[in-house]
Amino acid sequence: MRHICVVGLNWGDEGKGKIVDVLSSGVDVVVRYQGGANAGHTVYIGDVKKVLHHLPMGILHEGVAAVLGNGMVIEPRGLLEEVATIPESAIERLFLSDRAHVVLPHHTALDRSREEDRNGKKIGTTLRGIGPAYQDKSARRGVRLGDLVRPGFIEDKLPKKLAERCDGLDVTSGVIEESVELCRQVRDRLGAQITDTQVLLADRHAAGERFLFEGAQGCLLDLDFGTYPFVTSSSPSFLGVGPGTGFSPRKIDHVVGVTKVYCTRVGEGPFPSELRGEEEESLRAAGNEYGATTGRPRRVGWLDIPALRHAVLLNDLDSFALTKADVLDGRDTIPVTVGYRLDGREIHHFPTHVDDLSRVEPIVEEWPGWGTIDEHTVRPFADKLEEATGIPVSILSTGKRRDETVLLTPFDGYVGAVR
Ligand code: GDP
Ligand code: IMO
Ligand code: MG
Repeated sequence: MRHICVVGLNWGDEGKGKIVDVLSSGVDVVVRYQGGANAGHTVYIGDVKKVLHHLPMGILHEGVAAVLGNGMVIEPRGLLEEVATIPESAIERLFLSDRAHVVLPHHTALDRSREEDRNGKKIGTTLRGIGPAYQDKSARRGVRLGDLVRPGFIEDKLPKKLAERCDGLDVTSGVIEESVELCRQVRDRLGAQITDTQVLLADRHAAGERFLFEGAQGCLLDLDFGTYPFVTSSSPSFLGVGPGTGFSPRKIDHVVGVTKVYCTRVGEGPFPSELRGEEEESLRAAGNEYGATTGRPRRVGWLDIPALRHAVLLNDLDSFALTKADVLDGRDTIPVTVGYRLDGREIHHFPTHVDDLSRVEPIVEEWPGWGTIDEHTVRPFADKLEEATGIPVSILSTGKRRDETVLLTPFDGYVGAVR
């Protein structure tokens, strides 16, 4: 196994950061291919908590290069703040795609004002300007990181470009000056790291290096295949790797899908297996389900097999990483949604339309629980999951720390040391 991709199978926050961190110890390059500061990926090294938004998790490992791919949208202030938390020596290992787009203050302002205008029909975005930045990209009027290092761009061209873009928008007059200043700061601090990362990956692949692609968000937030319109504006699935990096997904050997042993969602939109009342409160408390980026309480529910099957197909999945298993310790059985009832009919697929998804009633089965989670006690549950989806469990996460991880299948040198 040489190149691996780690994706979220639900609505984000599955524990991707922790799994990527564990697998990163055996790779040469970790690559983010979409999203931006809407992501919040957490790892605990001992008791020290680290949350990253733009930077790939691999940056925390000595000697591992980190690439921010062209499919990302990058918010200068956030990126600079994150960079300030890593050792100076790590900056040499950080590479930013010259084709990645820049999230500017007018994007954040638009994100906020649209959410306020929706009058009860909010998407519940992270308010990081993600949707408006991707919109400018598609409309072919975005600013790319590579522009910032072109002589004269920031001083001469950017103010005019932004004046045209912001004409008629409900944004304060200061956004242009602020944008120019932020772009300058990125150029001065990180200009030397802005490069053609497609070529970098091709060269390193040719040199025999190993890559790990780190998905952000989750498949059910995928712009095309998620619960549209309650989605993000990029393609978090494995299929997003191609357009988001320029590296052929054909070369990737293994796709690991991360899912909790239950399910969560932040923001609006249908969530068929969602819990209410006391069960909701107690699962949220047990799992400490509060957003890593916004601090919002996460909605919680049981594992959803039709949704997982949808994600398995979308990602051409090879194996599951099961996380937060410790949260359900001590239960004799674990409720799992195995199908839905829609208009009196039993269905087993994941409906495309949110109006259908919000009307389905979950069909719940009790699956075997465990006393204290470990590689043996998880077996009956993992076998049921494999039976229902055709996909084996390869990684089991039994706690938030790096060392609370069990590999059920060998990752062929990937995990040099699960510390
Ligand atoms: P990501 O966005 O997919 O990287 O996930 P987040 O970092 O947003 O949220 C996952 C949360 O669960 C973080 O607070 C992790 O520290 C925590 N976590 C990850 N795996 C486990 C686990 O196996 N057990 C417990 N108790 N917590 C975990
Ligand atoms: P990680 O990588 C959970 C959700 C938002 C909202 C929708 C659109 O940590 O798993 P956006 O700001 O992207 O336009 O918001 O997507 N969302 C996430 N939910 N985890 C994330 O990232 C998310 N990134 C976006 O809550 O519902
Ligand atoms: Mg998160």
